[in-house]
Amino acid sequence: MTALSIQPLPAVGAEVRGAQLAQGLDEAAFGRVRDAFAEHGLLFFRDQTLAETDHIAFAERFGKINVNRFFAAHPDHPQIALVAKEPEQKQNIGGGWHTDHSYDEEPALGSMLVARELPPEGGDTWFAGMYAAYDALSDELKETVEGLRAVHSAHHIFGTRADVYRGDARDRIGNASAADDLHDVTHPVVIRHPLSGRRALYVNPGFTIGIAGWEPEPAKELLGKLYRVATDARHVTRFRWEPGSVAFWDNRATWHWAQNDYHGHRRVMHRITIEGCALGA
Ligand code: SIN
Repeated sequence: MTALSIQPLPAVGAEVRGAQLAQGLDEAAFGRVRDAFAEHGLLFFRDQTLAETDHIAFAERFGKINVNRFFAAHPDHPQIALVAKEPEQKQNIGGGWHTDHSYDEEPALGSMLVARELPPEGGDTWFAGMYAAYDALSDELKETVEGLRAVHSAHHIFGTRADVYRGDARDRIGNASAADDLHDVTHPVVIRHPLSGRRALYVNPGFTIGIAGWEPEPAKELLGKLYRVATDARHVTRFRWEPGSVAFWDNRATWHWAQNDYHGHRRVMHRITIEGCALGA
C-alpha cells in the first residue's frame, strides 16, 4: 500500500508526497490523487524517476492522451510533446499566462509536465487558480459575466501569422497551416467544473480573443478586469523545478506561464496532455 500525503499549498495546488509514480499507484492511492486533482486543480510531485513509458501509463489512468497537433513530438513516443528551448533560442513555449487547448471544442482535461533537462537557474513555471479567481470577483463582475461566452482561438499562437512561427522557435511548432484552418470556438466565461462541480473562471490571456456578441473594446476592457483579479498574488504560485519534478495541472481550473529567464541554457520538458470534454456553465 502506498503511504501518500497531500499537502495543500497556500495559493493554489497541492504537493503529493510519498508516491513513486514509476512503481504505479495502487487503486486506493490513485483514488486519493484523483480526488486531490479535482479539489486543487494542480498537483506537484518531487523526486520521481519516470521513464517515458511510466509517464504515459500514469497519464492514461486519467483519460485518453491527446497527441499534440502543433508541438514537436518525442521521436519514440508521439504521445509526448517536447517543450524545449535551446541555448541559442530566445523564445520559449508558454511564455505568457494561458491554459492549454481552450481553443478546442472540448478543451483538454489537463497536462502532465516532467522535467528532463533544466537550466542551472530560472525556468520556473507560475500557476494561477481559477476557482479562487472566480470566488474573488466582485458581485458586480459576477453579475456581468453570468451567461456570457468567450471566444477562443489558436490562430495568433500557432498559425502562420503567429510571432512564434516567424521567430526563432519555429522548429518547435509544426502544422501552422492546420492552425490557420481551425475555427474559433466559444465557452462559458464561468464554467461549472466537470470534476469538482465548482465554478471556475474560464478565460485566459493566451487564447481568449473576445466575448461573443460584444464589440472588441468593451470585451478587452472586461477581460482586462477579469485578468487583474485572476493574477492577484493570492491565487498565484511559482514552481521551482528540480530534477525529478512533475507538475500535473487541470486546464479548466488553472492557468500557467513558463518564465523565460534562462537564455543561453537548454531546458527540456516532456508534456502529455489528456483529453477533456465540452464545458458547461
Ligand atoms: C506549457 O505551457 O505547457 C509549458 C510550461 C513550462 O514549460 O513550464
